[in-house]
Amino acid sequence: MCGIVAVTGYKKALPLLLNGLEKLEYRGYDSAGIAVIEPETKNIICNKAEGKLRNLINNLNDKNISGTVGIGHTRWATHGKPEVKNAHPHTDSSGNIAVVQNGIIENFQDLKNKLEIEGVIFNSDTDTEVIPHLIQRELNTLSKLKLENNGSTLLVAVRNVISDLEGSYALAVLWSGAPTSLVVARRQAPLIIGLGEGEFMCASDTPAIANFTNIILPLEDEEIALLTPLGIEIYDSNNERQYRNPVSLKVSEQIIDKMNFKHFMLKEIYDQPGTAKNWLENYLIKNSENGQYQINYSFDTKFFESIERIDIIACGTSKHAAMVGSFLLEQFSGIPTNVFYASEFRYSPPPLLPNTLTIGVTQSGETADTIAAIDMEIKRRSSSVDKTFKPNLIAITNRKESSIGRQVPNIIDICAGIEVGVAATKTFFAQLLSFYGLAIKFAQIKGSQSPDEIGKLITELIKLPPLLEDLLEKHNQSSEKLAHDFFNIKDVIFLGRGINYPIALEGALKLKEISYIHAAGYPAGEMKHGPIALLDKKVPVISIASPGEVFDKVISNAQEAKARDSYLIGIAPECNGTEIFDYLMKIPSSNEWVSPLLNIVPLQLLSYHIAAHRGLDVDQPRNLAKSVTVE
Ligand code: F6R
Repeated sequence: MCGIVAVTGYKKALPLLLNGLEKLEYRGYDSAGIAVIEPETKNIICNKAEGKLRNLINNLNDKNISGTVGIGHTRWATHGKPEVKNAHPHTDSSGNIAVVQNGIIENFQDLKNKLEIEGVIFNSDTDTEVIPHLIQRELNTLSKLKLENNGSTLLVAVRNVISDLEGSYALAVLWSGAPTSLVVARRQAPLIIGLGEGEFMCASDTPAIANFTNIILPLEDEEIALLTPLGIEIYDSNNERQYRNPVSLKVSEQIIDKMNFKHFMLKEIYDQPGTAKNWLENYLIKNSENGQYQINYSFDTKFFESIERIDIIACGTSKHAAMVGSFLLEQFSGIPTNVFYASEFRYSPPPLLPNTLTIGVTQSGETADTIAAIDMEIKRRSSSVDKTFKPNLIAITNRKESSIGRQVPNIIDICAGIEVGVAATKTFFAQLLSFYGLAIKFAQIKGSQSPDEIGKLITELIKLPPLLEDLLEKHNQSSEKLAHDFFNIKDVIFLGRGINYPIALEGALKLKEISYIHAAGYPAGEMKHGPIALLDKKVPVISIASPGEVFDKVISNAQEAKARDSYLIGIAPECNGTEIFDYLMKIPSSNEWVSPLLNIVPLQLLSYHIAAHRGLDVDQPRNLAKSVTVE
């Protein structure tokens, strides 16, 4: 999390920095800050504000900042509270060096202790502040070697300093001694360089620079670069100069527009019929000879034949998508599948088993725990002599240019377009679709379902876009009304079973993260083993009851809640049994396999309207960030 942006060139830096920070605010909004080199004096002017970017913009209103070289930061607090003193940029004691950083410096305490012994006084509680102090110390050493004050010297100093840093980071450094230069570096945190007209820039993510250029150079892991108004020099960790061709940004990577919606989240919920259409167009291909559909994943799928089991690694909402995926892969495709929290997997992985496919699921492609867990899995499998243990990997992501995109050879791009709302909606939906594709592919390869059964599932998927449009039209207003009655509740229970149990978990997560109302999801059959003690008339129960294998069971579980006076909301088609619900959010009848793709929509809408009714910042809920690049 945290977003960084930096620029050097012949144009004023501030507009680009502020525009970039606005586009990066989804990565964190505890504080924002900028540092710009003053053209006449070459001094660094630093300005920071607690809270949202608008506070920084207010601070800067009456200031004339004309410098052309600068850095900016939007923070998601890790070390130190969200206060001005902990806001970036951080400077050294002389104020001649300024640094913005995204990541965590794990050995900062050791480094800080050593610097304090040398007499350095720290002004913040952050891990980042060690960096400018270390660079200052390094520059002092280099000046004794009679190195000139220029960008190359700053590059050497930063390179020496980062070799002592442990953890992950993306950083940008300004030095008044080289007032037109910027040094940027990354390890396991994203950073892309942009080539503009008369300026070079870099940022944590493409939208931050998309208004200024559509030509980019992604920086690879462990690389460091010197940016000046005249050009860019990139070096790898062995100090070898790197040359690579710039690439163009796709239009979809540039557009961030709320259209006429009040919030990005609502727009993104409404994007879902389009997400479904896109997926069908991109990934479903009809074989003209036999009329059968194939899933068009771009990688060679030969290795699927030898796969005997699947491990899926993910966090948060992506894990809920993985749980639906696991249900499909086991129950439809017949392959034993386990889902792991990435943060657990990396420290307590299951014993190695042969012929295993590992799937990493992350919309951002940057989630630190997921990246580290996959990395660990690649290493331990690659070091095995037995070939059946070798790593087979797939990543499901919305950002194929991200860290996971570089880490894993086989990518399923969920093609959801940029999601700005911090609460994942359309990316969850697109992750689900990707798992349907995998389940179909495995079922075809393994012969676990007849072509007829596979055809039926595909037909249901093809029907999705108009059904989703219909759902949105029906439930936007009704969930707004429901939100009016429920915006003040304290606890909500979500129940689901089978393939819809993860949807209960996701419904609960959506509600709590944007409305700050306590919510918990349970497999409906588990309620009587404890959670039922929570129920009374103040605790509504939202029950997902899709006709199929467990419909009657879910209705009985809902009955048990009703007997404890809970207000019952049903997510179900209108049919026998659903009359027990006090309020029914009607879902079109469908095959049980595809029901999660429909059931999730009213739950997203309900969470959205409750949070909006409470007057909360739906797109940027407190304490959260879109891309969790710290452990
Ligand atoms: C919730 C949400 C988070 C993310 C989680 C993993 O709405 O968005 O729970 O799902 O932080 O993020 P990714 O998918 O980027 O790995």
